[in-house]
Amino acid sequence: MPQPHLRTVVVLAAGEGKRMKSTLPKVLHPLLGRTLLGHVLSAAAPLAADRTVVVVGHGADQVRGHLTEVAPDATPVLQAEQLGTGHAVRIALEAVPDGAGTVVVINGDVPLLRPETVGALVTAHEEAAAAATVLAAEVPDPTGLGRIVRDADGRLEQIVEERDADAAQRAIREINAGIYAFDAVRLREALSKLSTDNDQGEEYLTDVFGLLRSAGEPVAVHVAVDHTETLGCNDRVELATLRRLLRDRVNEAWMRTGVSLLDPVTTWIDVTVALDRDAVIDQNTQLRGGTVVGAGAQIGPDVTLIDTIVGPDASVVRSHAVSAEVGAGASVGPYAYLRPAARLSDKSKVGTFVEVKNSEIGPGAKVPHLTYVGDATIGAKANIGAATIFVNYDGVNKHRTVVGEGAFVGCDTSLIAPVEVGAGAYVAAGSAIAQDVPPGALGVTRAPQRNIEGWVARKRPGTVSAAAAERAQRGAEGASEVTGAASDSEAMHGVAETVGGASGTGDTATE
Ligand code: UD1
Ligand code: MG
Repeated sequence: MPQPHLRTVVVLAAGEGKRMKSTLPKVLHPLLGRTLLGHVLSAAAPLAADRTVVVVGHGADQVRGHLTEVAPDATPVLQAEQLGTGHAVRIALEAVPDGAGTVVVINGDVPLLRPETVGALVTAHEEAAAAATVLAAEVPDPTGLGRIVRDADGRLEQIVEERDADAAQRAIREINAGIYAFDAVRLREALSKLSTDNDQGEEYLTDVFGLLRSAGEPVAVHVAVDHTETLGCNDRVELATLRRLLRDRVNEAWMRTGVSLLDPVTTWIDVTVALDRDAVIDQNTQLRGGTVVGAGAQIGPDVTLIDTIVGPDASVVRSHAVSAEVGAGASVGPYAYLRPAARLSDKSKVGTFVEVKNSEIGPGAKVPHLTYVGDATIGAKANIGAATIFVNYDGVNKHRTVVGEGAFVGCDTSLIAPVEVGAGAYVAAGSAIAQDVPPGALGVTRAPQRNIEGWVARKRPGTVSAAAAERAQRGAEGASEVTGAASDSEAMHGVAETVGGASGTGDTATE
């Protein structure tokens, strides 16, 4: 359908936000996946504006930098001195050459605004062919906000700032949300007539309404159904309130699409996250950035996922992941740390106190406990024993380790990169492997064991250990007198398993 009106969106983002007490410009403070400014721009996106102008001032370079990331089509316009919201819009329109159409102005600090609401405001404005329409809301506490002053017939008379209001006006609970639609031609004309005759000595955009009304132009009020959408952010206490409100809104929406949130109050999901049906999110869980959780996956409790993709039916428990991928049916944690480019294939396992960085864990491969995997490729169904360290860094460069399909790495092993353990090879527990192990071979670097009989009795007499040893030796002598044959056969079995210096499966790795 052709666009009936040329539309221009102007976002006001030049203010400092003094009460935030921050070096970061107010509009760049984050709120569940977007900055305050990012939320406003995304609420305005469905208007399909022909152009978007963002008025920048305080922290202009930072705000401009952010815009190139999130809204490269928006035009930043500098308001070097913040002389008021009217002045800001005047400067914005100077950057927009042609005159006609609708100008939508949005304060940069109203992040809970819904696209539907700003859409309804603009539609109502255009259908009524009004000169100006303001979004208003009835709020429990109007402190600090501009009041909507209506005449005896209920029509908008003017908008009065609290500091310029009289007692009767202050009692009004219908407020200006800081979101407006204007007819461009009449807006430009009114802006040229703004005075600074007010308590702050600023050009108030809100005065446009009184001016237009006096000139007999039609001005209108569009009332927001949900007043929380109009809440501004002036300090960090308000920011926390907005965050809670947005959390509840996001969580409710996910539950309605078929995701279980076991404790919505402690579940924080960025607006940019995607969740599939029957995912179950347990308490104290944060899902951030571009995180995607597949159908039936179980996340939490106590999990943070940042820009992480989790496949269907995977499970992640008490873990932290950044820019990682977890395949379908894979299992992570408790207490795992997945760092960027950790890629866990389907049905693989990364268990307790395991850190993985820039590595592929093959399908069905297991890294169950106490291991660092850095810059490695681990083949399908390989098993990495507890306390294995992938030694990837020589102090200058990082090197890769390859562990082949079906390989079996014993516990407490260092794999010193660059090195390759071939497919189906074994590595004996306690080895430091710096040379490739061919497929099917056993790699072992362990020194042979030496037992010095009676050492404790001689060197640690009188200790708990010496007493225990003495009891054990006495007991063994007694026992061998009765069942000497059985004892011998178990000892034989033990020898058989340690041929070649490596112990058997049961000793080298863990499941
Ligand atoms: C403004 C409205 C008030 C409304 C409230 C809603 C005016 C005069 N008052 O008050 O009626 O109830 O918003 O939140 O408009 N800005 C600039 N340049 C400036 C001044 C402000 O870009 O010179 C930007 C700020 O960065 C902010 C927005 O405009 O994003 C609003 O400014 P702010 O100072 O917060 O206005 P309020 O006093 O809250
Ligand atoms: Mg404000």
